[in-house]
Amino acid sequence: MRVLLVGGGGREHALATALVRSPQLTAFAATHAKPAWPDGTEVLGVSSVEDTVAAARSWRADLVVVGPEDPLAAGLADALLDIPCFGPSAAAAQLESSKAFAKEIMVAAGVKTAEALVVDGDCAEARARCDRGNVVVKVDGLAAGKGVFVCPTAGEAHESLDEVLGARFGDAASRIVLEDLLEGPEVSVFALSDGHRVLPLLSAQDHKRLLDGDRGENTGGMGAIAPCPLVDPVRTAELVEQIHAPVVREMAKRGAPFRGVLYGGLMLTADGPSVLEFNVRFGDPECQALMALWDDDLVAYLHGAATGHLPAAAPRFREGAACCVVLASAGYPRTSTKGTVIPEPPPSPDVLAFHAATARNDAGQLVTTGGRVLGITGVGPSLRVARDRAYDAVEGWRFEGCQLRRDIGVRHV
Ligand code: AMP
Ligand code: GLY
Repeated sequence: MRVLLVGGGGREHALATALVRSPQLTAFAATHAKPAWPDGTEVLGVSSVEDTVAAARSWRADLVVVGPEDPLAAGLADALLDIPCFGPSAAAAQLESSKAFAKEIMVAAGVKTAEALVVDGDCAEARARCDRGNVVVKVDGLAAGKGVFVCPTAGEAHESLDEVLGARFGDAASRIVLEDLLEGPEVSVFALSDGHRVLPLLSAQDHKRLLDGDRGENTGGMGAIAPCPLVDPVRTAELVEQIHAPVVREMAKRGAPFRGVLYGGLMLTADGPSVLEFNVRFGDPECQALMALWDDDLVAYLHGAATGHLPAAAPRFREGAACCVVLASAGYPRTSTKGTVIPEPPPSPDVLAFHAATARNDAGQLVTTGGRVLGITGVGPSLRVARDRAYDAVEGWRFEGCQLRRDIGVRHV
């Protein structure tokens, strides 16, 4: 099978390493250039939906695997027509691209989520909700993780509402969701779906803040563990039946079957698990931890999801745990530093170095090209061992100005 991978971040590097292990794979191509792609990867050098579709046709792809959400929200899966695509149609991708849509589906499907008020702009109802405080103000559309404001007090709520009503978010803020503020640990639960059936993957836990102890600015994710000890595989399967399965049924009922990976961002509240958001793709860096443990034929599962025929049983993962530590460049998340030389230590056993923003300079040295640079991922029989392996290996990869958290997964060991 000829597989084309869309995207060029750390998540896609992790997917690539697992895809090329499939016995069914005959050729592998990627839309984006990357120094660390597996040997034999063909780089097609395309980014728009139109160019990606044309490249998929001329390269004769049998399966297109989409890493990020933007091309899905822009209709890549629809535009590929008869070429199987792992990743949902634009209609089904609204589970991520519209928070109001996701709320409506959850309510219809009977899935537990925070109570919310959806408004089209400033209004007395929205201001009255802000007055009560304990609210989370969210822009409806895609905002690269920057459109959510957690507001314990009324003052913060009004300020955040003013901010999202301003010009900064454009059309993404044409609708605004005001949601009750919940409390509890957060867990990511992933399931594959072929439009009808769902199969659980492992749970994971991201670390979104820049600094140790969940302090500092929000980022795309500074590290992840899988599975999350708060949600073991048995509990994961139960949650997927309670949350993902009804959502998939509701989407099918509405004529927008969901094919791809449905990522539930859950909060484990005192009243039970509640959904904070859905994403329609793997998490980054959660995917790095998941793929480090993946022990099955990834092409079979992704092609099965894309074509409506998932394999009968859930995929196998290695026993134990994985811990991914992100190395980010100086200035991240506000800016990033490009061109800093990265040392390349020899490989360590049970550690995978996933590349996000890296390239080779004219002298052939590995250099930084953006914010999140590497995801150093340790695997081991326990989270403690996986963490130790990741942090030992990190020392060899540290570059000038490198930022990292020292406490990925620490609360569970
Ligand atoms: P989202 O993009 O909707 O997942 O929100 C980003 C982050 O905001 C989440 O990971 C939570 O930390 C926080 N958040 C979102 N919704 C809520 C909520 N209802 N209560 C408390 N925190 C929330
Ligand atoms: N790591 C969070 C995300 O991918 O949305």
